[in-house]
Amino acid sequence: STHPLIDRFGRRISYLRISVTDRCDFRCVYCMAEDMTFLPRKDVLRFEEIEAIADAFIARGTTKIRLTGGEPLVRRDIADLIASLGNRLGHGLDELTLTTNGSQLAKHAKGLAAAGVRRINVSMDTLDPERFAAITRRGRLEDVLAGIAAAQDAGLAIKINMVAMRGVNEDEIEPMMAFAHGRGMGLTLIEGMPLGEVGLDRVDTYLPLRELHEQLSRRYTLTRLDQRTGGPARYVHVAETGGVLGFITPMSHNFCESCNRVRLTATGQLFLCLGQEDQVDLRAAWREGGPEALDAALDHAMHIKPKGHDFALDRTRPEPAVARHMSVTGG
Ligand code: GTP
Ligand code: 5AD
Ligand code: SF4
Repeated sequence: STHPLIDRFGRRISYLRISVTDRCDFRCVYCMAEDMTFLPRKDVLRFEEIEAIADAFIARGTTKIRLTGGEPLVRRDIADLIASLGNRLGHGLDELTLTTNGSQLAKHAKGLAAAGVRRINVSMDTLDPERFAAITRRGRLEDVLAGIAAAQDAGLAIKINMVAMRGVNEDEIEPMMAFAHGRGMGLTLIEGMPLGEVGLDRVDTYLPLRELHEQLSRRYTLTRLDQRTGGPARYVHVAETGGVLGFITPMSHNFCESCNRVRLTATGQLFLCLGQEDQVDLRAAWREGGPEALDAALDHAMHIKPKGHDFALDRTRPEPAVARHMSVTGG
């Protein structure tokens, strides 16, 4: 069908996040455990299947697709999928983008630009090489910096994502802003969310961005921007640096009422909320019933999309709000 995707709460779904692999070459302390068990490769969707699902969404009004992971650029032949999805730009799709840890970006930057990608989000939590190694457990800062430089050379706009953590990198917010804004990039700060058992105490490291915003507004001239990217961030312009600073505040300010997105996992499960288990098996629908079954599954998905997450950080409930790791749905 060609009806737009609208859920029970009247929210129009126009943004599809596609996790192309749950694997990653890093093990960020807020995202993964030290030893992770990844999905068997045979369960992972083939590119044709991802494209068929993407097309079903585009036919129903999805205008923005973001590839995520794990780390999207570690999936074999990912450039082929990106090029192929890029052919949908201008034919219903307005934006194709990705969120990457940057480790493989140097070799992919030109291909991304050629495929029609205009901007990307790069996750980077620190500018200190040793701290970077500690947070990512196996990443090298210099690879990410080289990736960022290559992406800028290729003409891609970049937003840096920084998970802000008390006692870990809170002292780097201003240096990160100077780095990003000094190079014409945005910086978006993110509150850590309780998904999956990881190697970090999320109560200890929680940094409420509402308070941080207030502190910053005493030191900088911050002007609220109405600019929206279709994602959950709220943006301000910083007069002193001339750059844009974003805040993603799932913990201190819930933004679920304006949710416009759903998430496809690497195995074809459609998760309807980052903070809930509700899901629809699109791989089964597609394999067993083709386009019609897929379309019906999307209608069902709109019917069961929950109102929002109920993340909480609570010492008395030490288990994470959601058992699966962030890398299953790519954030
Ligand atoms: P833009 O298109 O640049 O706005 O990107 P985005 O913020 O939509 O995507 P990105 O992959 O950069 O995600 C940044 C952070 O926002 C990640 O930590 C995501 O987990 C988080 N995020 C994105 N969407 C949601 C959401 O619906 N709910 C919650 N709680 N967090 C989200
Ligand atoms: N809470 C908040 N953000 C997270 N990310 C990964 N795990 C978490 C978490 N538990 C971020 C990554 C990346 C984005 C997709 O999600 O740093 O920028
Ligand atoms: Fe990999 Fe991103 Fe998770 Fe870090 S946050 S382990 S880079 S998927």
